[in-house]
Amino acid sequence: MSELFKPITLNGVTLRNRVVVPPMCQYSASDGLPNDWHLVHYGSIAAGGAGAVIIEATAVSPEGRISPYDLGLWNDEQADRFARIFSFIESQGAVPAVQIAHAGRKACTDKPWLGGKPLTDWTDLLAPSAIPFDTECQTPAAMTVAQIHEMTDRFAESAMRAVRAGAQIIELHAAHGYLLSEFISPISNKREDEYGGSLENRARFLIETVKAVQSAIGTAVPISVRISATDWLPDGQQPEDSVKLVNMLKPLGVALIDVSTAGVALAKIPAGSGFQVPFAEKIKKETGMTTSAVGLITEAQHAESIVAEGKADIVMIGRGHLKNHQWTIHAARELGAEAPIPPQYLRSYR
Ligand SMILES: Cc1cc2nc3c(=O)[nH]c(=O)nc-3n(C[C@H](O)[C@H](O)[C@H](O)COP(=O)(O)O)c2cc1C
Repeated sequence: MSELFKPITLNGVTLRNRVVVPPMCQYSASDGLPNDWHLVHYGSIAAGGAGAVIIEATAVSPEGRISPYDLGLWNDEQADRFARIFSFIESQGAVPAVQIAHAGRKACTDKPWLGGKPLTDWTDLLAPSAIPFDTECQTPAAMTVAQIHEMTDRFAESAMRAVRAGAQIIELHAAHGYLLSEFISPISNKREDEYGGSLENRARFLIETVKAVQSAIGTAVPISVRISATDWLPDGQQPEDSVKLVNMLKPLGVALIDVSTAGVALAKIPAGSGFQVPFAEKIKKETGMTTSAVGLITEAQHAESIVAEGKADIVMIGRGHLKNHQWTIHAARELGAEAPIPPQYLRSYR
């Protein structure tokens, strides 16, 4: 009996299995609006059997996009377009989810396939402190406390739009050196007010955002928080800090900690098969939180063992699903589980 293909319930929302498609930017929108690409891409992946599909980093405000081609949820027209995608994902048996985000000081890049260089005409970068991500990026403005409070409202409004449009899980992007994670990391946060200094202070913006989102969407909608468990740098966020951070999020009723790493500054990362799993395992064991593991997990047996050995509750398969939208169906067949094959495709799997 496969453990990976056992359903899991997050705050009352049940995923048919523990394979989740993590957020992956498509750099294919204009004005933050989902279009045919997003419908076909996410629809096809949802038909491939995963328990949930998390739509890519979606900006809470225009200046918070990683690139001008990111999705957004800062207006109702965008939400209306999301509704069709969420509804199709759900019709295929997957739970529709979206990651809401603000790119902070990293909101400055072109499409990766056009070089991914910082854009010089992107002038309104926001961050905890006026420190650029690197020498090619512009220097961001250190946010005032009023701007922090406004940003918390932006997250809450975007989450509410997403839920009204049909999202059943809201993920907050607090990883990879984007705005929420810039506050958490001591590398990018040099503030001397109540939002900087101690870990408690650096976590304040995230905690206030979780609370604001929760009061906007209600406690029935599960919230996932993606964190960078380590910056992989001696002066950055350490795994022990992340355990403390998760212990601050736990009493708020966060349903899932999506454990990733890195992104706040350039670092030497020992990337290899399942290299981030030990962080998901540590956080799960030391906090009792439901966690997901992600990163270079490509084989069905590997994903199965992560769940079966109690290292994480959910396994996210990113690039595996980009290469093969039906990764989950193939994994189910390999593991002898009932495969969630769309009836239209049944004859090809006989
Ligand atoms: C094309 C692409 C876009 C990505 N965009 C996002 C994103 O929007 N938000 C995010 O948190 N991570 C993003 N990631 C990271 C993935 O969610 C995932 O953590 C990473 O690819 C490692 O998992 P994998 O080895 O299974 O692909 C992206 C990765 C890829 C390849």
